[in-house]
Amino acid sequence: MSEEEVRKGLAGVIADYTAISKVNPDSNSLLYRGYPVQELAASKSFEAVALLLWTGELPREEELTVFEAFERANRSLDSRVKAAIDLLPLDCHPMDVGRTAVSVMGANHALAQDSSPEAELDKAQSLFAQFPAVVAYDQRRRRGLGIVQPRTDLDYSANFLWMTFGEEAAPEVVDAFRVSMVLYAEHSFNASTFTARVITSTLSDLHSAVTGAIGALKGPLHGGANEAVMHTFEELGIRSDESREEAATRAKAWMEDALAAKKKIMGFGHRVYKNGDSRVPTMKAALERMITHYKRPEMMGLYDGLEEAMGEAKAIKPNLDYPAGPTYHLMGFDTDMFTPLFIASRITGWTAHIMEQRAANALIRPLSAYNGVAERHVA
Ligand code: ACO
Repeated sequence: MSEEEVRKGLAGVIADYTAISKVNPDSNSLLYRGYPVQELAASKSFEAVALLLWTGELPREEELTVFEAFERANRSLDSRVKAAIDLLPLDCHPMDVGRTAVSVMGANHALAQDSSPEAELDKAQSLFAQFPAVVAYDQRRRRGLGIVQPRTDLDYSANFLWMTFGEEAAPEVVDAFRVSMVLYAEHSFNASTFTARVITSTLSDLHSAVTGAIGALKGPLHGGANEAVMHTFEELGIRSDESREEAATRAKAWMEDALAAKKKIMGFGHRVYKNGDSRVPTMKAALERMITHYKRPEMMGLYDGLEEAMGEAKAIKPNLDYPAGPTYHLMGFDTDMFTPLFIASRITGWTAHIMEQRAANALIRPLSAYNGVAERHVA
């Protein structure tokens, strides 16, 4: 194999077909099963979008009602999962908790080794229903607070916020949270989804594939970037008494220094989109609504200042993690809980890809070009 054929990072390699989503960097669009993601974010519940990703069609009203009833009936934290979480130290990363929780759910699922389409869908829907309780409980235990039981009168997003904070969130907050879940749900062959597909291709089980995907998502070049964005804001210093303009000026100066020091700035850049991430305008609009709701204009100043300075210096655009990080911060989530929120959403895309991979499987096993020492022999 010649060196020219090696595609480092598989950049530009088309690894397989998918009917789940289409990313078009030229038109800056992202379609889930043919629907523009911004249209789904404008009017569809996360529950409906999950069904769309799994089944290929937006649900009819009766189908949605059945799924909502299932989701509401399966929201409680399983006692075995809670026991496993309680064994983990309070200072471990919450992504370790998420990864462990999914693994424990797999070990206890009656259909764990059943890979029929019906069993796979059941496992995907159970994960969707149960994962929010993991995130909510983990944030609360780190704050020394007790578990809050789910409420069946609230939808997915409202109940997620209820279980985390123990109070009902305002409708505009619930809506911004829903938008983030819809936007994070699916993005073709990103690193974590590809990981899930590689694991599935060995005929391993769904929970193993999701557990592996969580490991891939944790890294700051992928999902961990939403948390890393907030560390940038924290390093800058969030000053609630500052005006939007003052904050923007300070942020610009910070970014200029950081770029001069050749730092990589999390929340900017994308392997596929080179001219802006299709999801950013919708998420930025949700962030702006939260800035108004929480009366925190200085946060928008920091956001604008960093974006402007990066644009002027390098013409690199923000990705979805950039507006999502400060949105979750304003809602009250701890910074290291941001990537587990990404898991809660991406479980939909991962499991849709696992089912797609399984339906037309080929073992994923690329070649490598050897560049070690030439053949030699033991004396
Ligand atoms: N800050 C500063 N410079 C950057 C950034 C950034 N965030 N992103 C890219 N660049 C620069 C690189 O330094 C490189 O410059 P050079 O050619 O002078 O060396 C050039 O742009 C190309 O960057 P690569 O890293 O080679 O591009 P690649 O396509 O491999 O990387 C990636 C994409 C990994 C996302 C990169 O932009 C990055 O590390 N961003 C920060 C992490 C991040 O936000 N990840 C979230 C991804 S989206 C998601 O998961 C929802």
